[in-house]
Amino acid sequence: MPMQIVRTSPIEGQKPGTSGLRKKTSVFKRPHFLENYVQSTFNGIGGVRGKVLVIGGDGRYFNDDAIQVILRMAAANEAARCIVGQGGIMSTPAVSHLIRKRKADGGLILSASHNPGGPDADFGLKYNGPNGGPATETVTDKIFANTRDIDLYKITAATPVDIDTLGLRRHEGMEVEVVDSVADYAALMQTLFDFDKIRALFAGGFTMRFDAMHAVTGPYAHAILEGRLGAAKGTVVNGKPSPDFGGGHPDPNPIWAKDLMDTMYGPLAPDFGAASDGDGDRNMIVGRNTYVTPSDSLAVLTAHAHLAPAYKDGLKGVARSMPTSRAVDRVADSLGIACYETPTGWKFFGNLLDAGKATLCGEESAGTGSDHVREKDGLWAVLLWLNILAETGKSVAELMADFWASYGRCYYSRHDYEEVESDKANAMMDALRAKLPTLAGTQVSGLTVEAADEFAYDDPVDGSRSTGQGLRIAFAGDARAVFRLSGTGTAGATIRLYLEQLETAADKLQMSPEEALENVRGAAMILSDLTALTGRTEPDVIT
Ligand code: G1P
Ligand code: ZN
Repeated sequence: MPMQIVRTSPIEGQKPGTSGLRKKTSVFKRPHFLENYVQSTFNGIGGVRGKVLVIGGDGRYFNDDAIQVILRMAAANEAARCIVGQGGIMSTPAVSHLIRKRKADGGLILSASHNPGGPDADFGLKYNGPNGGPATETVTDKIFANTRDIDLYKITAATPVDIDTLGLRRHEGMEVEVVDSVADYAALMQTLFDFDKIRALFAGGFTMRFDAMHAVTGPYAHAILEGRLGAAKGTVVNGKPSPDFGGGHPDPNPIWAKDLMDTMYGPLAPDFGAASDGDGDRNMIVGRNTYVTPSDSLAVLTAHAHLAPAYKDGLKGVARSMPTSRAVDRVADSLGIACYETPTGWKFFGNLLDAGKATLCGEESAGTGSDHVREKDGLWAVLLWLNILAETGKSVAELMADFWASYGRCYYSRHDYEEVESDKANAMMDALRAKLPTLAGTQVSGLTVEAADEFAYDDPVDGSRSTGQGLRIAFAGDARAVFRLSGTGTAGATIRLYLEQLETAADKLQMSPEEALENVRGAAMILSDLTALTGRTEPDVIT
């Protein structure tokens, strides 16, 4: 077999972050960079000899070249079979599903999620385990350790593998099975939701706009929404994936999905709007004149999930990442089910889902999902919303008003300070961390600090402990500020400040989030000294 063993040496900066390894594309294209990381991943999971892997990516620039390298390395490392999405394309939740459905040993996802794509933008690679979910920290630690002492990688000769034609073929002793990227996923969705009911909703004149943001969900949304569910042609916009996402930023939030927001707040707004990100795991939900925060979306879905066939017997429990608002906690409380608080990153939900402790999970960063896969799932969230709208006959605005009237409203906002010099960001976090034990009882900006600590998580399933997961300050009156540094950025440091304030008074449920959060924002700025320590006065992005 024309297999090469290539001598190499460790390359700095290969520590996996919140969601795999993300770097500038130009860094990934440096000699040996990708190869080192792929071999370290293979080594970190005990080799791939005789194993079956699922491989797909979000189609961003470099997807096609990188997937060829990965296939050649899988063959050289004696994998038995790689199951590849046609053209190398598959959404993150679709990969997760396929790993599970085919009982594969794991998978590789080529994506930097919502980060822009292109030669000057971002690329990423992550490994998912046999449960279909992102590798746990134990595994990513092993991968990282391997990147630190790698001295060789294995790769076959540079013969391109045909991944455009469906079917089974061989590459240097390994089987390559090219599958339709959409079919299995669409079939799964049909088992979860009442497609007849949703089809009837559309047939009755219900209108929708789904913005695929030139990213991977375009083909999925066309096939499911316009195909199986009969939504009008043109419901899906920006539905053709492009390597640089049409030059945009495929992050479904009010800033980057501004076109959709403008439509939904304009005179010709359809009944329902949604968007998804680069690799199809995030979602944004917006009704006519009504943006739904991801934290509220998780809570509303929890309250109404039983209306969809897959969840008709109720939920085993729910889980949210620590900075996500506590709206869902209030629903879980009233349903009498457990609510778990995990660190940021989907990998922490895997154990809870596997152990049957949680059915729904979500993050404030536009991620929602359930135990149907082990990733967050953008289209799944959209379909569950549609199922709920079809069953209740209510508009998004009505559902939200009813929800807040029952549970109170957790006003919520995230402020991102991007590309802060790492030293300064770390200095700010260090100073605040040092101050936390002294804060209880402090009066600041009209609020009283009730408790302050650094979040650590003890996984109730495997007993592992994850420390350093964000600085949180709780104020009397159910207000909260959380600071953490992003683990997905590719330049400098991003400080994330999460603000939350609960209101239960009937006359305070329709305020603007800025107004409702003014005090807690003021308190957070004073306590962190962010402006003095970083030189930043305003966040770059508010979501
Ligand atoms: C961000 C989000 C987090 C999400 C991750 C991957 O991570 O905050 O919720 O799981 O992207 O999509 P961060 O950059 O904050 O580390
Ligand atoms: Zn994503």
